[in-house]
Parts: sequence; C-alpha cells; structure tokens
Amino acid sequence: MNDKLKQIKELVELELNASVKVEDIENIKVKYLGKKGEITTILKTLGQMAPEDRKEAGSLINNLRQEVESIIEYKLKILKDSEIDKKITSEKIDISIDKSNEKIGNKHPLTVVLDDIKEIFIGMGYSIAEGPEVEYSKLNFDALNTPKDHPARDLQDTFYITEDIILRTQTSPVQARTMLIQEPPIKIIVPGRVYRSDNVDATHSPMFHQVEGLVVDKNITMSDLKGTLETFAKTYFGENTKIRLRPHHFPFTEPSAEVDVSCFVCAGIGCKVCKGEGWIEILGAGMVHPNVLAAAGIDSKIYSGFAFGMGLERIAMTKFDINDMRYLYENDVRFLKQF
Ligand code: DAH
Repeated sequence: MNDKLKQIKELVELELNASVKVEDIENIKVKYLGKKGEITTILKTLGQMAPEDRKEAGSLINNLRQEVESIIEYKLKILKDSEIDKKITSEKIDISIDKSNEKIGNKHPLTVVLDDIKEIFIGMGYSIAEGPEVEYSKLNFDALNTPKDHPARDLQDTFYITEDIILRTQTSPVQARTMLIQEPPIKIIVPGRVYRSDNVDATHSPMFHQVEGLVVDKNITMSDLKGTLETFAKTYFGENTKIRLRPHHFPFTEPSAEVDVSCFVCAGIGCKVCKGEGWIEILGAGMVHPNVLAAAGIDSKIYSGFAFGMGLERIAMTKFDINDMRYLYENDVRFLKQF
C-alpha cells in the first residue's frame, strides 16, 4: 500500500511539473481527487480491508490526499499568478512617450471671436440665451413687426420648410421668445446660426452667425444703447476706439441705427482694412419698437428697451484681416492653425 501511494505522489508531481496551463492542473485534480479519481478509488477500498489494517491505511491515504491537494493548490496559484503577470505585461501601455511636439489643435476663429464677445457682455451682466435654427415665421417676422410684404420674407431670401416654418434669417426671434417667457428686466445676448438664400462668394454664405443683444427694463434710453456699444467697442477693438451711429431702418427698432467703429488699424485715417473709410460697420441696433414689445405682451408704457445684432463672420474677417469668408468653412488646417 505504502509503495503504491508513494508512486501516486511521484506521478502527481511529475504531471504537475509538466503542466503549463491552469486547465492541465484542473485535469490532474479530477484525475486523482475527483469522484472517480485514483486516490478516491483507493479510499473506497478501505471498506474491504481487515479492520486491523484499515486504521493505518486510512490515515496514509488521507495524508496523501491532503498532500496532493496542497501541492495542486500551490501549483495552481503559481500558474494563475504568472498568467496575470503575462497579461499585465502584454497589455501594458507605455505612457512615457514624449508627446510635447504634438499639436492638439486650436479654437476656430469664429469661436475665438464669439468667446471674446461673450466674455465682454457677461462682464456687463448679460446672460446667454439660445433659440432654434428651425423657427416659426411668426417669430422670425411677425413678432418683430415685419409685415407680410417685407422683402426679407421673399422665397429668394428665406429658406422655407413650410409656409409657417423657416430656417431663421436672424437671431432676432430669440428676442420675442425671451420676452414671451420672461418678465423684464431682460438682459441677454443670443449667439447662433442664421440662414439666408444667398449664393456663396467671398462675402456671402447661406449660413452664417450672429450675436443678438436685448435689454428691456424701465427707463432704458438710447444713451444706454450708445454707452453699451461704446464699452463693447473699446473693450473689443481697443481703448481709443470711437463709435458712430448712422440712422437706418429696421422694422423691429425705432429709431434704428447702423453702428460703425473707428478703424482699429489706422485709427480713422483710412487704410486697407477700412477700405479708406476710417470707419468699419459692425452692427445694427436701435430702440425696441413698441409693436415688438406689445407682441410679446410687454407694456411699452412701462418698459422700454434696446437691441442690437452683429455678424460674427464680419467681425472675425475684419479683426483677423481675412479677405474671403469661404476660408472660415473649408476646414483647411493651414488656414485654421493661424488663430
Ligand atoms: N436682425 C438684423 C439683421 O439680421 C440685425 C439687427 C439689427 C438686430 C438691429 C437687432 C437690431 O436686434 O436692433 O440684419
């Protein structure tokens, strides 16, 4: 009996040494310790032994079983550990590579301009409002005192989805949207995309960006508008910048003005950037028309307001001396990386 048990132990050790996979060891375990395993089978023969031999044989077999169990467990642990090690090594990512020369990109020039504009107005206490690009023609036009026969409503000028729904031609409908849901005081700027049925050329695109401004409160006057735009112009274009208001017409403001800034390159003398004018037109503005306030349910006897709207592309092109609008949309890295 003793010899037989020794032989089994040696065999187990031999087989364990030869095994390289966890699976091999599981098989060895079944082969010797499983229900029909060799050691289990020998244990079962105890019943047939003479009672005087049984005790000794029993403890020998049990000892062997425990030993075999523990060397199998030991080998299993070593193999599992080494498999984990192997996995860790093979899946290791070298994070030590020097990537300092890699360019991670930069903001698009329109985003640069918009971020600066936002910062200036947020600094003056404005909040940012947004509205949908697919808009009701009622809000884009009617609510803004723009009657049915206005040329902007023509098929040539506006993209219609249905008769009542269009791609907004301006960010101004967000004025109406805001006034309809918010009581004055209102102090917002509205950045966003707008669409017009224009052909693409150096200064036109069927899609471009605007930033709208709206202030409604008690006792808002034209001097508030002028002071606000002057502060904006000086902060954005430089301390010595002057502004000029030229009378104009917009249906949603009365009085209305086009606003120029003195050229930030030549300070008004006349140069290439301002095309010899000394002034650069940057936005439209005016006092909110009483009809616009009324359409949004605001009493124009109590409240008044001013509004303005500027084209982002125009400001970016002036600021960065870009002579063709198409560069802004072509995604040419050689152009974009300059900003
Ligand atoms: N919505 C006008 C446009 O697209 C720009 C504009 C002018 C907006 C005057 C205003 C404003 O709010 O008061 O041409």
